[in-house]
Amino acid sequence: MSKIEFPQNFLWGSATASYQAEGAYKEDGKGISIWDVYTHIEGNSKNNSNGDVASDHYHKYKEDIKHMKECGQNSYRFSISWPRILPEGRGKINPKGIEFYKNMINECLKNDIKPFVTIYHWDLPQSLQDIGGWENKETAYAFRDFSKILYEELGDKVELWVTFNEPRFFIYSGYLIGNYPPSYNDPQKTIQASYNVMLANAFAIEEFRKSNAKGKIGLVHSFSPVYAISDSKEDRIALRNADNYFNNWVLDTAVKGEFPQDLVDKLNRNYDLSFMNKEDLEIIKNNTVDFIGLNYYARALVKAYTIGETVLKVNNSGKAKQGSSKIVVKDWFEMVADPKSKFTDWDTEIYPRGLYDGIMMVKERYDNIPIYITENGIGMVEKMVSGKIDDSPRIEFLKLHLIEIHNALSSGADVRGYYVWSTFDLYSWVNGYEKRYGLMYVDYENNNKRIPKKSYHWYKDVINSNGSILED
Ligand code: BG6
Repeated sequence: MSKIEFPQNFLWGSATASYQAEGAYKEDGKGISIWDVYTHIEGNSKNNSNGDVASDHYHKYKEDIKHMKECGQNSYRFSISWPRILPEGRGKINPKGIEFYKNMINECLKNDIKPFVTIYHWDLPQSLQDIGGWENKETAYAFRDFSKILYEELGDKVELWVTFNEPRFFIYSGYLIGNYPPSYNDPQKTIQASYNVMLANAFAIEEFRKSNAKGKIGLVHSFSPVYAISDSKEDRIALRNADNYFNNWVLDTAVKGEFPQDLVDKLNRNYDLSFMNKEDLEIIKNNTVDFIGLNYYARALVKAYTIGETVLKVNNSGKAKQGSSKIVVKDWFEMVADPKSKFTDWDTEIYPRGLYDGIMMVKERYDNIPIYITENGIGMVEKMVSGKIDDSPRIEFLKLHLIEIHNALSSGADVRGYYVWSTFDLYSWVNGYEKRYGLMYVDYENNNKRIPKKSYHWYKDVINSNGSILED
């Protein structure tokens, strides 16, 4: 076996998102986001939890960055809260919001940590939801203007930008499954919102190219490499359908500037696509990404659709509902759980090999485009024992995935960085606070005290050894 060694300039980091980490939801002039509204409605999230305080990163960011530094991390991926910058989504800027992110970025730079900025990680200003949210093209224009402000204010210091975190995930959850705001089950709205998000992505890239911001811009995708259970004709058709459903409408559109034609044709048979127009498609064509961020949690294993209505059931409860997830998209495909695989309490398959295969798929399809693994991690219920957190399963999980990344590098893929999800425990959206992902434990009962987990120390050794301890 070849020695494990990562490239010289490889970025070793971890990631968070504003709503999940910051808290301070009404502080210093911040406006209200759709998540603030949604989680304050009883029954919408586990134990009626919300991100009002979250991990209190707003007040503890210096301490958090210090921990990253001590771990050897040289990059930090975080997102900007849109309503912190523009409380109403458009118009008047909140100077305190700008100041907060400037301080965060300066603190990173002071510690030789490269800031990796996500412009949108789901906390849409409520005022924009009030005009129709992502269904309304006005929101795409507002996003363009928001991105422009960020390039002007932060563009001299940030070299890595992404427009959106996971269009597929937040759109499907919000518009098709209905377990995220704005909580619809409506394919027509899903298609319209998806289109507007990809248009907004292109607008923001167009603004980036016009601005004086340095660096590169990409998009982060919730990547589910698709496998079929057999090579039969029916299963291969299901594979293509599932690939369009999970991946291609985001990746093809972001990288090649075109929605997959077979997907458009299929949708056109049942839905109204009259909102698609030449000018928009030209903007999408002319404004593509410099790189792709892949968030990898699991693959999608599929077979041919057999019978019945569409079912989109996700398990946001953990162990109590283990095995309850089910995805069938009528006339498209059915998802299958491999009986040989291991799954988390939330039904996420543990399948490290999918990361290798997925990176290689992206490499082949998109001409060896630069890739960052912008999220990878495992959610677990964890308890502190004698002041310590032994999260050995997380170490095993991260180790196996890092080995697959190294394998992909050895096969010629251009992977430039890796970000553990998450830097510290944070609010896992509707799953609440029990589902922890952090390298650092957050003691929510005790002033959000940070305590390094076993995985934090392990990650430090991985970084220090430039990966060679992964061989042990
Ligand atoms: C990604 C998101 O989909 O997965 C994160 O970018 C999210 O925001 C992470 O927290 C894990 O998902 P969950 O639902 O378990 O928190």
